Amino acid sequence: MNDGGYLYSSGSINRLSDCIKQKGSAGRESERRFNMAIAVSENGRIFTIHTASTTYQMMADKYGVLLHLYYGRRSEGTMDYLLTYHDRGYCANIYDAGEDRTYSLDFLPQEFPVSGTGDTRSTALNLEYGSGICGCDLRFESYAVKDGKYGLKGLPAVYASEDEAQTLEITLADTAGMIRAKLLYGVLPGLDIITRSVIITNTSREEVRVTKIMSASLDQVYGDYDLITFYGRHCMERNFQRNAVAHMEQWIGSRRGASSHQFNPMMILAERGTDETAGGCYAMQFVYSGGFSGCAGMDPFGQTRMQLGLMQEKFNYPIAPGESFTAPEVIMSYSGSGLEKLSDNLHRCIRRHVRRGKWRDKICPVLLNSWEAYYMDFDGADILALAEQAALLGMDMLVLDDGWFGKRNDDSSGLGDWYVNEEKLGGKMKELIYWVHRKGLKFGLWVEPEMVNEDSDLYRAHSDWAMVIPGRKPVRGRSQLVLDFSRKEVVDSIFESICKVLDMGPVDYLKWDYNRSISDVYSYAAQNQGSVLYDYILGLYDFLERLTQRYPDMLIEGCSGGGGRFDAGMLYYTPQIWCSDNTDPIDRLRIQYGTSFGYPACTMGAHVSVSPNEQDGRVTPLSTRGITAMSGTFGYELNPEKLSAEEKEEIRRQIARRNELAELIANGTYYRLSDPFKGETAAWAFVSEDRSEALLNAVNLEIHGNRPVTYIRLRGLEPGAFYEDENGKVYPADALMQAGIPMPMPFGDYGSTQILFKKK
Ligand code: GLA
Repeated sequence: MNDGGYLYSSGSINRLSDCIKQKGSAGRESERRFNMAIAVSENGRIFTIHTASTTYQMMADKYGVLLHLYYGRRSEGTMDYLLTYHDRGYCANIYDAGEDRTYSLDFLPQEFPVSGTGDTRSTALNLEYGSGICGCDLRFESYAVKDGKYGLKGLPAVYASEDEAQTLEITLADTAGMIRAKLLYGVLPGLDIITRSVIITNTSREEVRVTKIMSASLDQVYGDYDLITFYGRHCMERNFQRNAVAHMEQWIGSRRGASSHQFNPMMILAERGTDETAGGCYAMQFVYSGGFSGCAGMDPFGQTRMQLGLMQEKFNYPIAPGESFTAPEVIMSYSGSGLEKLSDNLHRCIRRHVRRGKWRDKICPVLLNSWEAYYMDFDGADILALAEQAALLGMDMLVLDDGWFGKRNDDSSGLGDWYVNEEKLGGKMKELIYWVHRKGLKFGLWVEPEMVNEDSDLYRAHSDWAMVIPGRKPVRGRSQLVLDFSRKEVVDSIFESICKVLDMGPVDYLKWDYNRSISDVYSYAAQNQGSVLYDYILGLYDFLERLTQRYPDMLIEGCSGGGGRFDAGMLYYTPQIWCSDNTDPIDRLRIQYGTSFGYPACTMGAHVSVSPNEQDGRVTPLSTRGITAMSGTFGYELNPEKLSAEEKEEIRRQIARRNELAELIANGTYYRLSDPFKGETAAWAFVSEDRSEALLNAVNLEIHGNRPVTYIRLRGLEPGAFYEDENGKVYPADALMQAGIPMPMPFGDYGSTQILFKKK
């Protein structure tokens, strides 16, 4: 059930006189400058959001239609001069415009375009009521400005303290009285972040159904843009894709019930020619883990609309009279100086304003995961032996992955039976935890709470808890079915059984997995099947919220067949997410490169595994595997007993190195210095906030005889300063940034280099 609603983490209603005052039209502004982000014109019709370097503006026009005026580089004044009115054939006119055929919502830029007003572009809201009547016409009703950042009931959302954020609420009402839409804008001025969400309240006496809702819609009246998206598949997530925006709608999304490997719920609209350091670009990032859709397209007049919101397919959400529906949040940002700044804005937002809990500000433990060491073929002695090795090598934690519960020796059985297989472990979980802790290690466990195998006690007792369409055979994925998390009793029961295990001993870490897509959308408990996928995600969030509250010290890592649910919604509960099941460092460079556009390194689960790699057979040096995994959370996914003494020694050094660099990597500014999909060398760097340290990483992707030397140009160093490497060699920062630094020769097959520079 979604009864809508929002909460303020902090803040109260401001007196309007506290807001910046503006006069109505261009050139006549007399603004009083406050630290406030939100300005409302004296007539209460023009709304301006200022962040440190950006401005966002909209206007309720003479008909009460909320038009979008401007989003981009910070600008004072009123930008209503950008609106143009022309009589264009076949562009319908709202009735209030009378005979004025120059007023059409088919081409005017809008803040929240709805179906039913003559806008034939992709709309942000489609309603249905009665016997399939579609239509809505929203006009401005009121607004409020509040300190602090709104929160969303039951949904993850960006949070901030009262002095870091403000909220603008604009309420629109349907001319026929069916609904009211409250548009929410959260502003984090220091980070150039604006968030959007919408709450739809049924103000009629009958059921209203939402059939499409895009949380954010952004119109550009002019310009040539590219759409950057991140497509993928299992073991190869978030590949960078850049297409020209053209006279067509380009759609990305997921019909899989989860944000998915197929597309990340993030998109960037970049002015043609925008690169890492120059050009204007806009990001939209969904704070939601279920199906989504995003689009960008040019209308017949060369205007671009970009949108991000819920997947429409299998979505038809009924709202009873007086009740509300909340659309998940979209994080938006604009950079006038290229993609690097845009990513940095998103990183800062995700790092400290999406991720929560104790682990938000801590360096995560170096772990040894049992998966690639044993898969499901282990006993308690094997796990203790792994723990022994982990301790000897200087790691912090042992993670027992899949296979410890129910009847689970392969992936065809056991899911749903969250009781310990003591026979397999040769003892109690409590004892295992005790012995792992005795070795000075933390202990972590794998779970997959949303799934069930037909061969399980849970399924035998509650087959109706699985999502299966009545009268049909289930569609299986990895031999498993999805539990109906839209039902509270299902969530409650699994929560209880998992807590029983977690209460057996202090479990320090939990890996939350999700290993198939949802295909059979059916809930025995739902009145309307169109609400199931959304309510499923609310059930998931409810579980995760209760888990984080009950075990505040436990670190949770998200996972979905690797990075199939890598999104800002999950990061609200799980501060890190396993980036991919592919641990080959060369593929990982590309996966982590794509991921870096929206997410900071501290969120990317990354481990060193064996060579040849278990997924693709590639042979790589241990040092390269180390450097790549260090640019994420860092850990190992192998059996150290099978390593040589030299390899073990190298791992010891690697861990010490990672611990030395962890703070810089987790919190430093990230620089993509090359495109690993194109060049011969993959290079990236982290620079500390105060620019006193910079870490350059480079991996050789190709070998050639007598090859030209590759120079890597750094960025983000302090101009005029000098930096010293670990051998005592001193370099001028300007030259490092202008001419670069030569890469070693020969570089070797997938050889790598890592240089730590310290400011002199
Ligand atoms: C998924 C995860 C892996 C591992 C297995 C266990 O594929 O991504 O890391 O945990 O499940 O079954």
